[in-house]
Amino acid sequence: MIRFAACVLAALFAFSSFALADDDDDDDDERSHRQQDLAKLHNMLYQKNCASCHFAYQADLLPSRSWKAIMQPSALVKHFGDNAELAEGERLAISAFLQANAADVRRTRWSKKLLRGLSKHETPLRITKLSYFVRLHDEVPTRLVTGNPRVRSWSNCSACHTEAKQGSFREHEIDIPGDNFWDFD
Ligand code: HEC
Ligand code: HEC
Repeated sequence: MIRFAACVLAALFAFSSFALADDDDDDDDERSHRQQDLAKLHNMLYQKNCASCHFAYQADLLPSRSWKAIMQPSALVKHFGDNAELAEGERLAISAFLQANAADVRRTRWSKKLLRGLSKHETPLRITKLSYFVRLHDEVPTRLVTGNPRVRSWSNCSACHTEAKQGSFREHEIDIPGDNFWDFD
């Protein structure tokens, strides 16, 4: 009888802890859905406000301190010779989104390499000035970049990296416009 009671108790305990765990999972699911919705919203805000003049550089291409500096109100009004001023709410949301997904926060395919050799005291404002970037691209002749009307600038990643907007910079996806002698268009 004692054994039977123990079994029932054990079963009840197992069941209740299972039910509790299930509750927890629901909470976690809801929380992670809410976080995903928020991340989507922040990404939409970023695309809307930061992809009109150039492509939306992925947050993991710069460390968080760089995004923080770029997103200062005083910096946005003189953003690389342009005015990229934002409403305060949008500025704060985009700045938080970029910093939360930055190269020194999220480990991604390029993040670690991009940060290599960068001192903590340096706050680069350009991806294209990072030594890793420069080394990666130093074999591409300038006539194909600044001297190329279809590229014009190193900052124009998506001109050569056909999947850059999807965050992919793999070698087989590179197509420098005008690089092939049979490329007449
Ligand atoms: C009004 C146009 C405009 C808007 C809007 C704009 N930018 Fe820019 N951005 C520029 C120009 C111009 C450059 C310099 C491009 C070049 O050198 O070819 C630049 C360069 C950059 C670079 C450096 C790219 C490199 O060379 O590595 C980053 C990072 C950047 N912008 C982030 C942002 C963010 C974040 C936003 C949104 C808050 C934003 N930009 C909105 C015009 C703009
Ligand atoms: C003029 C064309 C051009 C532009 C503009 C350009 N790239 Fe590249 N990129 C290349 C080429 C070519 C390579 C391959 C270099 C090699 O492997 O020798 C490369 C390589 C890379 C790689 C490494 C790919 C791999 O699989 O090893 C990354 C990451 C990258 N580029 C990111 C960027 C980013 C970010 C930008 C914009 C800020 C950019 N590139 C702008 C042409 C370009």
